[in-house]
Amino acid sequence: MKKMVVGNWKLHNSVLESTVLIEKLKKELAKTKKTEIVICPSFIDIYPASKQLENTNLTLGAQNMFFEVEGAYTGEVSPHALSHFVKYVIVGHSERRRYFSETDKMVARKAEAAFANDLIPIICVGETLHENRDGLSKVVVMNQVEAALSHLTSEEVAQAVIAYEPVWAIGTGETCKPEDAAKMITNIRNLVKAIYGEKSAESLRILYGGSVNSETIAPFAKTDKIDGYLVGSASVDHKDFSEIVKIVESNSKDVATHRAQVKKKVMK
Ligand code: PGA
Repeated sequence: MKKMVVGNWKLHNSVLESTVLIEKLKKELAKTKKTEIVICPSFIDIYPASKQLENTNLTLGAQNMFFEVEGAYTGEVSPHALSHFVKYVIVGHSERRRYFSETDKMVARKAEAAFANDLIPIICVGETLHENRDGLSKVVVMNQVEAALSHLTSEEVAQAVIAYEPVWAIGTGETCKPEDAAKMITNIRNLVKAIYGEKSAESLRILYGGSVNSETIAPFAKTDKIDGYLVGSASVDHKDFSEIVKIVESNSKDVATHRAQVKKKVMK
């Protein structure tokens, strides 16, 4: 299992701008081997991006989708339609929860619909600034994780990706402390282990997101507990994004090998 770097382009880039950015990323990241790179452009860029990314080491994801496959849902995008072009789909991003009133229940239905349509959900969770200040981070995040995974089987949980993104760290330039991110990721893994078993907990990938860029990433990249990064604003800058991938790549042990080593130590 490789470390992951996911670029969430949000509402940026016309089709032309997206085409140019992808060409630059293809060139700069052609030699990446140990890191899974996923880019998530807006819906309108997805079809041309899928053509551009054929036979490359870059994988495509979407930023959102609906939980129904078809019907009278004006303006929504079907998981089935998406599945022809992307492998991953971000669900429950804090901007979706905040500006589009997505609830934990909707996030759970989206995660379920993703697997039903051969997509892998990248499920976002994270506490707000108020919740953090009130000491509620762990409770909030655990509740979000439990709800989001509630319709999935252990096998599906094993394949899923969770992104821990403290809401107060998104787009603010202020990251969470790497040790706090590592602690929360361990809490998430322990919760998954308690509900779905060790195999699912060990296979599930858990990322950190929130103001990750080529300058803030160094202390995170040294922590083995973090399986990768969900990158927002820095992902639309080809130099910054490529540099992030290179830093992750140079610090990266294979995630599975690392977990096996940790397990051996624990067993001794
Ligand atoms: P940011 O966004 O890197 O701009 O903080 C992260 C995200 O929204 O996933």
